[in-house]
Amino acid sequence: MVGEKMRPVRLVLYGVGPIGSNVVKVLEKKDWVQISGAIDTDDSKVGKDLGEVAGLGHKLDVAVSRDATGVLAASSPDIVVHATSSYVQDVCPQILECVDAGADVVSTSEELTYPYVKHPDLADKIDKSAKMHDVTVLGTGVNPGFVMDALAVVLSGVCQTIKSVRVERVVDSSKRRWQLQRKTGAGLSSIEFRRLVKEGKIKHVGLPESAMMIGAALGWKLDEVQEEITPIISKKRVRAEYALVKKGNVAGVHQVARGTVAGQERIVLDLKMYAGAGDPHDSIKISGVPPIDMTIRGGVQGDLATAAIVSNAIPNVIASTPGLKTMIDLPIIHNIA
Ligand SMILES: NC(=O)c1ccc[n+]([C@@H]2O[C@H](COP(=O)([O-])OP(=O)(O)OC[C@H]3O[C@@H](n4cnc5c(N)ncnc54)[C@H](OP(=O)(O)O)[C@@H]3O)[C@@H](O)[C@H]2O)c1
Repeated sequence: MVGEKMRPVRLVLYGVGPIGSNVVKVLEKKDWVQISGAIDTDDSKVGKDLGEVAGLGHKLDVAVSRDATGVLAASSPDIVVHATSSYVQDVCPQILECVDAGADVVSTSEELTYPYVKHPDLADKIDKSAKMHDVTVLGTGVNPGFVMDALAVVLSGVCQTIKSVRVERVVDSSKRRWQLQRKTGAGLSSIEFRRLVKEGKIKHVGLPESAMMIGAALGWKLDEVQEEITPIISKKRVRAEYALVKKGNVAGVHQVARGTVAGQERIVLDLKMYAGAGDPHDSIKISGVPPIDMTIRGGVQGDLATAAIVSNAIPNVIASTPGLKTMIDLPIIHNIA
């Protein structure tokens, strides 16, 4: 039904990094999308054709501009695909500008996937503004947004009762974009790693948000979500695409988020992202009636999947009632040709 009502959707891309570029690669093949503008602040991209910046090998006749206000006014987009940064504090003004321009927004901002606990005021501001302008805002991606939260929530639908949810994701970062290798500390010494963790520069953003999303969906009032970040020390030399990891150096990050209800651990999200990971996978175990034990061997490839879910979310976002939404508010997102 969602697919049927689609007319060409006017779309602006806000942020043409690796994720935004992957989104362009997905969307340029869809006849229900017309890319009408592109915004980015990077000097090396501004003024160039979006097709060239995104690495398509051909032009799209859309110039990348740093003037967000101008692009939004000139393009009058139905929707903005937003992929600039992770934190709600940073992206809030960008999202509000799109909303003010009357556009729906799908964003890859990790914190925006479930912003209500860390940023209740900003979440409220975005929600109110979206309702005022009759548009919808969604934060999504592969993680957070799918493998460690929404997928577990979908699986919970066949359980009568649930005691606990455990999700494990192991990613081999060695062939992934440099941003991922950098934010997981590949190649650093343990001392550098711990310093950068303290400074908030090394981490996967969004694990607590995933736990909060699961808790909210299952109707559990979480006391708190605790998060720990430790280094994974490499037992071998790994030549990652953008970093050399020597034996004894940091290969990546091990991050665990634990959600408790009335003092009892009910949600554990265990994420390992490191160069040379031997058995990448995603697994979801629900201790309940009936129990669920699902593993995706190889794991879901994050960059491709994020571009896909952002693109596939567009029809649902356009069809949604207005306001700030999360993945547990919208109908199931599925592939659309
Ligand atoms: N939810 C998920 O599963 C998921 C998955 C993958 C990525 N992400 C997130 O999605 C975002 C995009 O990923 P990426 O790897 O493409 O990031 P990236 O390499 O940092 O690229 C972002 C692009 O946006 C530009 N930009 C930053 N601030 C801007 C602003 N205010 N206005 C216009 N352009 C701006 C950047 O320019 P400069 O280089 O000049 O700053 C850069 O060209 C990141 O925050 C990433 O963490 C989420």
